Amino acid sequence: MNITFELAKERTEAILEKLTECGYNVNEPFEGNIPDTFSIDSGACRVVIIDEAHPDFVIKFGCSESDEKYCKREVEIYEEAKKEGLAKYFAWTQYICEYQGRGIYAMEYLDCDEETVDDRSSDYCWELYCEDNDLDEEKAREDWDIRDEFWDSYNDSTDHTYGVVRYLFSLISAGDAVKLDQLMWHWDINDMHAGNWGLRGKQLVMCDYAGYGW
Ligand SMILES: Nc1ncnc2c1ncn2[C@@H]1O[C@H](COP(=O)(O)OP(=O)(O)OP(=O)(O)O)[C@@H](O)[C@H]1O
Ligand SMILES: [Mg+2]
Repeated sequence: MNITFELAKERTEAILEKLTECGYNVNEPFEGNIPDTFSIDSGACRVVIIDEAHPDFVIKFGCSESDEKYCKREVEIYEEAKKEGLAKYFAWTQYICEYQGRGIYAMEYLDCDEETVDDRSSDYCWELYCEDNDLDEEKAREDWDIRDEFWDSYNDSTDHTYGVVRYLFSLISAGDAVKLDQLMWHWDINDMHAGNWGLRGKQLVMCDYAGYGW
């Protein structure tokens, strides 16, 4: 898809128009009706609305007014990633307009199937873990202590060794991996659990790269 600001704006305005018709209020995001073809997703800080009839862009806004900072940060990070030639690893995003007193952002739609992302990356990390620790994969699979230890290391959200990040680094060029690692450290892009990724075709892409706790 050829992403342009104009197209993102057109899609966002169409979504907002339909939400207005339904009497939806972004200030009460989990109450009220949304059109039949729409779906709503959310995390701890953001609400995402998708028009399944045109799933090329989603709209994104803060769960509360103060959570808009996460959307703003993604716009900043996306611009930096573009300068570094790393934009393909981030979902395109831009501020579009104010609506009912809230900042509304458009984001490129990704196929956010958490289970698929998690399966692929945990399989990769498990193999690596067994290799690093000189473990027989079949035997290790039967050992609950080893498995617990593995999952602790896989889900380590404190830094950028998060499993899915390691998996992405294994798929891309060493040059991109080094640059991406630097960018992620610089911007404190932590919290990269499987739910914060999606697929653009075959490409693993971040959909929630605002980080947390900065
Ligand atoms: N660009 C996108 N395309 C499709 N679905 C998306 C997109 N961005 C987010 N989602 C879905 O919406 C969910 C919530 O979005 P997001 O992760 O950005 O919110 P958050 O509140 O910042 O999350 P967290 O709880 O991780 O802080 C995601 O887990 C994902 O399933
Ligand atoms: Mg998230």
